[in-house]
Amino acid sequence: MMNTINMTQSFKKSASHGESYHRESSLPHGLFITFEGIEGSGKTTQIQMLEEVLKKKGIPYITTREPGGTKIAEAIRHILLNPDLKEMRPETELLLYCASRAQHTAELILPALAEGKIVLCDRYFDSTYAYQGAARDLDEELINVLTKFSTYGRNPDLTFLLDLPVEIGLARIKNRNLDRLEQETISFHEKVREQYLSIARKYHSRYIVLKGESQPEEIHRQILASLHTYIGEQND
Ligand SMILES: Nc1ncnc2c1ncn2[C@@H]1O[C@H](COP(=O)(O)OP(=O)(O)OP(=O)(O)O)[C@@H](O)[C@H]1O
Ligand SMILES: [Mg+2]
Repeated sequence: MMNTINMTQSFKKSASHGESYHRESSLPHGLFITFEGIEGSGKTTQIQMLEEVLKKKGIPYITTREPGGTKIAEAIRHILLNPDLKEMRPETELLLYCASRAQHTAELILPALAEGKIVLCDRYFDSTYAYQGAARDLDEELINVLTKFSTYGRNPDLTFLLDLPVEIGLARIKNRNLDRLEQETISFHEKVREQYLSIARKYHSRYIVLKGESQPEEIHRQILASLHTYIGEQND
């Protein structure tokens, strides 16, 4: 049984917003994996399936989410997603996401990576480019600056984008109590989807785009296949 992250393989070049860099392959710097996609695309489902495999293999990992992940960041999440706060300005929304991210990154993500863990994060800064950048039409240059500031310059090593038509994603979650962003219009979510696809093309070296309409088990199999250099084969 394999109980460490395989460090013999180089990490994919992390060419992301703001800066790009190569990582030494022998350092215990963990593996930062983010999951992105519109509402109902299956992010949480896939994270849970991957967690089961990591648990079984005894590979050290943490699972976390944005907005949230720490006490302060979860308190900010509560404000951000509250459907009663419809008067929230896009500017306020952007700053709250970044505030939450700074706390989450410093308090939870960076220490876990420093301990050599795999970090599974449900949404990260690409969500900000998709929702606040494209859908809310806020300035990308400003988001670049705020992103670098609130992430301390650490980019994800790998990002899985679960892509699917907006109608299918929203239909999957229609019986939930929808949060402030989930209640947005179809055209808002279309912009989010298009921006994700455009980010994935631009930063293709860290991106893996998956067809979100496939069966959960099939998507899971594809995720494991792309991680096999780090975590070994499924049945190891
Ligand atoms: N590949 C799939 N095919 C069909 N249904 C799925 C698939 N993946 C997840 N689902 C179902 O769709 C719903 C939404 O999935 P999930 O909560 O994982 O999405 P999400 O991306 O985390 O959504 P949100 O952004 O709202 O948190 C759940 O009821 C889940 O069981
Ligand atoms: Mg979810």
